Amino acid sequence: MTKPFEYERGSETARRQLSRHLVGQGIELGPGPKPFPALMPSTSVRYLDAWAPNDNADRFPEIEQSEFEPPDIICDFNVEGLAPIEDGSQDFAVASHVLEHVANPLHMLCELHRVLRPGGTALIILPDRHNTFDRHRPPTPLAHLVEEFEAGVTEVDDAHIEEFISFTAVHPGGGPPGTSSVPDENLDLESMSVYERSLALLWLRWDDVKVPAQRRELIELHRKRSIHAHVWDVDEFLPMVRHGVLQLGHAWQFVDGLLPGDPGGRPDEFALVLRRDVSPRGCEQQAERLQAAWDIWRGYRDDLRAEMEHLREALAGSEDDNAALRAEVAELEQSAQELERSREELRRAVGEAVGVLHRLGQGRGLAPEEILTVRRQPGGEAVPDLIELLLRYRNHPFQEGTRRSLGKVKRTALQVLRSGRPLR
Ligand SMILES: C[S@@+](CC[C@H](N)C(=O)[O-])C[C@H]1O[C@@H](n2cnc3c(N)ncnc32)[C@H](O)[C@@H]1O
Repeated sequence: MTKPFEYERGSETARRQLSRHLVGQGIELGPGPKPFPALMPSTSVRYLDAWAPNDNADRFPEIEQSEFEPPDIICDFNVEGLAPIEDGSQDFAVASHVLEHVANPLHMLCELHRVLRPGGTALIILPDRHNTFDRHRPPTPLAHLVEEFEAGVTEVDDAHIEEFISFTAVHPGGGPPGTSSVPDENLDLESMSVYERSLALLWLRWDDVKVPAQRRELIELHRKRSIHAHVWDVDEFLPMVRHGVLQLGHAWQFVDGLLPGDPGGRPDEFALVLRRDVSPRGCEQQAERLQAAWDIWRGYRDDLRAEMEHLREALAGSEDDNAALRAEVAELEQSAQELERSREELRRAVGEAVGVLHRLGQGRGLAPEEILTVRRQPGGEAVPDLIELLLRYRNHPFQEGTRRSLGKVKRTALQVLRSGRPLR
């Protein structure tokens, strides 16, 4: 198996190339332990998050607290949106693996649009539900998001958390609802440290947690950690942006994107780069342009993918050809060795036959000078002469044993001469 290509600038190459869209002064929502690279000159970023690093100790016991980026502004997006940020004040806003956590994604989309200046850029990165622990979950329908937006939802409710747990918990032997799992009947949460308890609960399948107090604890634990409340793939997310344009007065333009598994990228995320239009059109025309830009980009990317697939297949084909050629060469080498061994055998047989003839020929009217001629020739080249000699003396009254061994030598020599194949 060929090693995957290693990008010179590491596994973040695809994210880094998107950073060229982030110019000026902007914000990043929920940088967590992994702020987005801001690589353009004279670019500055302020970070917003619900929690300071120290508050995360019992939320994310599996992550070192020092790895979290300290936020410049503490802000709960569910409750406040981006309230601390003024309208039209930002050149860019990044939300990487954040919108799937919030209670009301459409509201956050409105907030992103609000804080950007016309011409400002939103970079939205999301997990691809097919390639994460969400793979068994159904996509979130637009109607569900609209309902939550219209209801002004500010909290991820129990139903979302139950769905998340029941579809994503990965207890050994567990999986999507309906498959078997191995419940730990003796789970004693009280005696566990915060760290042990979190991990024990996180690995449980919802169906296995029967004790009401444990159920509650599990739900609250996930609420505290914040779950993937809603899930999409790249094509399922676009309708939400279109809805923003058609129904909520957004002036989004589609600028760029990233597909799961793009070269230098991750298999589990996709990205959209959207710009707040400087000269917005009516919502229909704006949506039409958004869709057209998307279709052009998506079509081109599909073509690229198909081409890459084709190249991959061609490469695999040529690897097969190489393997076949290598096998052929190995076979030829083996045949050459066998041929060499056969030559040796033949050389010995010729020597023996000539010796026999020579001994027999003495005093019986054979032609010793002919025999000597044959004997003087080294190995295989003597074969035609030897055969001629044997044929000439075929009616000679040799004794039975001698006749048999000469016959064998003759047959072998003829076989080599006719077929050109090595002796076995
Ligand atoms: C999965 S992490 C994303 C980290 C990083 N941006 C990345 O791309 O890997 C989600 C981040 O969003 C923050 N977050 C989640 N829900 C939030 C909320 N309601 N308000 C503010 N921040 C929130 C979390 O604290 C965390 O920093």
